[in-house]
Amino acid sequence: MNVIVVQNAEEGGREGYKIFRNAKENGATVFGLATGSTPLTTYAELCDSDIDFSDCTSVNLDEYVGLGPDDDQSYAYFMQHNLFNQKPFAHSYIPNGLANDITKEVSRYDQVLADNPVDLQILGIGRNGHIGFNEPGTPFNSKTHEVQLTQSTIDANSRFFANKEDVPRSALSMGMASIMQAKSILLEAYGDAKADAIAQTIEGPVTENVPASILQRHPNVTIIVDEAAASKLKGQY
Ligand code: GLP
Repeated sequence: MNVIVVQNAEEGGREGYKIFRNAKENGATVFGLATGSTPLTTYAELCDSDIDFSDCTSVNLDEYVGLGPDDDQSYAYFMQHNLFNQKPFAHSYIPNGLANDITKEVSRYDQVLADNPVDLQILGIGRNGHIGFNEPGTPFNSKTHEVQLTQSTIDANSRFFANKEDVPRSALSMGMASIMQAKSILLEAYGDAKADAIAQTIEGPVTENVPASILQRHPNVTIIVDEAAASKLKGQY
């Protein structure tokens, strides 16, 4: 794992941008995208740049069940407003949170991923080490699936909703195996609330109890952390 320690999320965004640009210059055409506050500085750098994704494809990690693209809390809305309005892709895929038939939607999304192998996947990380919405205990061989969110994730994500009761209780997420298929992975984490998860991800045992620890088995992972998120690492980075 290549660990880059930065001063703050803004510097992290500039480093994240460089990784996108390098990937694109080296022929990447399919980008796996994430939501949450963490990738925002990287997306802002991409928006401010002359990078052109109009011949590229994006596939997003996850979406809340029950929220559609017009809902300002949906991940489809987030992507539109934080990246796609300024940097459109030729094709953008995201799980359909409004699908009537979840089983069918899960299969459709697995097919999307099979048809569009991801060159670079960007990830944030939950306080409990989740990636996408793969909560602790998710099997490492999982593909796209419906997830019941843990209380800690509902609590953490409630800051974006008017009421905690409005936070959806389930989501559709790429699985762990789907994420590991990406040719390269960039994980970003900022702030001391992520310090335990980052220490366990990088220096702890590889275990389904800390989903992001699986990244130790991936050959091409870069982790950008600020000093607060790096504060519980024992090694020198
Ligand atoms: C949600 C998303 C994850 C994200 C995590 C952390 O659970 N599904 O993809 O990594 O939140 O969010 P934040 O970056 O806001 O801390």
